[in-house]
Amino acid sequence: MNFKKLLKRLRFNFTTAEYMRVAYLSPRKVVMVTTRLKDKDNVLPIDWHMPVSFEPKLYAVCLERNNHSAKTIRLTGEFVVNFVGAELEDKILLCGRSSGKDIDKFDLSDLGRQAASQVKAAILTEASGYLECKVIEVREWGDHTVFVGKVLREELLKGQTPELYHVTKF
Ligand SMILES: Cc1cc2nc3c(=O)[nH]c(=O)nc-3n(C[C@H](O)[C@H](O)[C@H](O)COP(=O)(O)O)c2cc1C
Repeated sequence: MNFKKLLKRLRFNFTTAEYMRVAYLSPRKVVMVTTRLKDKDNVLPIDWHMPVSFEPKLYAVCLERNNHSAKTIRLTGEFVVNFVGAELEDKILLCGRSSGKDIDKFDLSDLGRQAASQVKAAILTEASGYLECKVIEVREWGDHTVFVGKVLREELLKGQTPELYHVTKF
């Protein structure tokens, strides 16, 4: 790790640790967000996400400003939110510790995929349900970007909600 990165990490640890410890007292459900850039599919786990309106149906995802998925969504305006179960923990962590900028995460994780119908992105075949979203608003907040997507299609693929994967500490 170079000096600049080390300083950034130390600053993050000192100023953010307590805030995140408190914020994560409420466990967060992890979903997988899929995107596509120039025919290349990508996927990342996030736990910062939420519905924000019934009518119209709007769903917000919050991505670290510089990750590959945020850059992709800024360019394409499209993403899919895939709800996955805790049995995918290993694949979730693999996809959360690597960047689609450098590798093909579908090759890496062996996740299954099929094409979405309303947006250009993959749907995970392992998902219990998904939301196909078209971005209607982008807001930069601090070091993250919030993308609000209009839900163009939602589908429940499995009859019952699986045990979702939760993050309980940062
Ligand atoms: C359990 C878990 C939850 C995560 N939650 C978020 C999140 O809410 N927002 C975010 O931007 N990154 C989150 N990450 C980190 C990204 O998944 C990670 O930076 C990923 O490598 C980015 O991939 P990309 O560069 O292909 O977009 C999370 C990672 C894990 C393992």
